[in-house]
Amino acid sequence: MQNILIAGASRGIGLALVRAFLERGERVHVVVRQPGNEALKNLAEQHPQRLNLIVSDLTGDQAAERIAAALDAPLDIALFNAGISARQTIEDVSHAQIVELFLTNAIAPLRIARALSTRMANDAVIAFMSSQMGSVELARSAEMPLYGASKAALNSLLRSWSRAADRPNACLLALHPGWVKTDMGGDNAPVEIVDSAAGLVVSLDAHRGKSGCYFVDYQQQTLPW
Ligand SMILES: NC(=O)c1ccc[n+]([C@@H]2O[C@H](COP(=O)([O-])OP(=O)(O)OC[C@H]3O[C@@H](n4cnc5c(N)ncnc54)[C@H](OP(=O)(O)O)[C@@H]3O)[C@@H](O)[C@H]2O)c1
Repeated sequence: MQNILIAGASRGIGLALVRAFLERGERVHVVVRQPGNEALKNLAEQHPQRLNLIVSDLTGDQAAERIAAALDAPLDIALFNAGISARQTIEDVSHAQIVELFLTNAIAPLRIARALSTRMANDAVIAFMSSQMGSVELARSAEMPLYGASKAALNSLLRSWSRAADRPNACLLALHPGWVKTDMGGDNAPVEIVDSAAGLVVSLDAHRGKSGCYFVDYQQQTLPW
């Protein structure tokens, strides 16, 4: 049985990944910022002993310590999924919104991953939910430039870590889940949540035991940085 951490899993793609890993028999450590999530309660009842619920806002000062304290086994996969969208322009975004966006989408995930990197098993994967909008080369974030910039910042921090003296032994992954029918992706999105999650599980599994840093989507295609 593998130990999987999904950080940011109250709904959407994160929740679907929790369900997918539980269904194939793994133990899943789930980080959400609010207690009392009905879907997770039901999953915990269906899969006794295999869902470890950790309540923490990922942007909180004590998030890394709180998550580390709740882990009782080395992690085979850690996925930092939480993210927020941003439709403002550079002109109309407030400083507080900029801080929240970049803290949630780029800084907090890397900060927590770095703190947990000594808690990973051999052959582990540390993954982050990025977006094709974070690809500077593809330049697909004209409609949401600040969101794209926050995911580009995530990718940049990830690549920097992969070249730093304190890089982890684990494989580092930036993931694009597709344009997915969630609260964030909206009803017009072409990809169903279960299909995105199923593809992401394949992408995660395929990188166990590898070294280096990769940017791939839910169909195992490599994206340019
Ligand atoms: N949907 C798409 O088409 C698409 C495309 C490319 C990339 N992505 C990325 O994929 C990831 C998941 O997206 P989604 O579509 O599933 O989004 P979603 O339905 O809006 O869900 C976002 C999740 O992130 C959690 N979250 C946000 N901020 C958090 C914080 N500070 N602490 C803890 N949890 C936090 C939310 O928890 P609460 O319920 O507490 O708010 C929720 O569980 C995001 O990183 C997103 O940027 C999505």
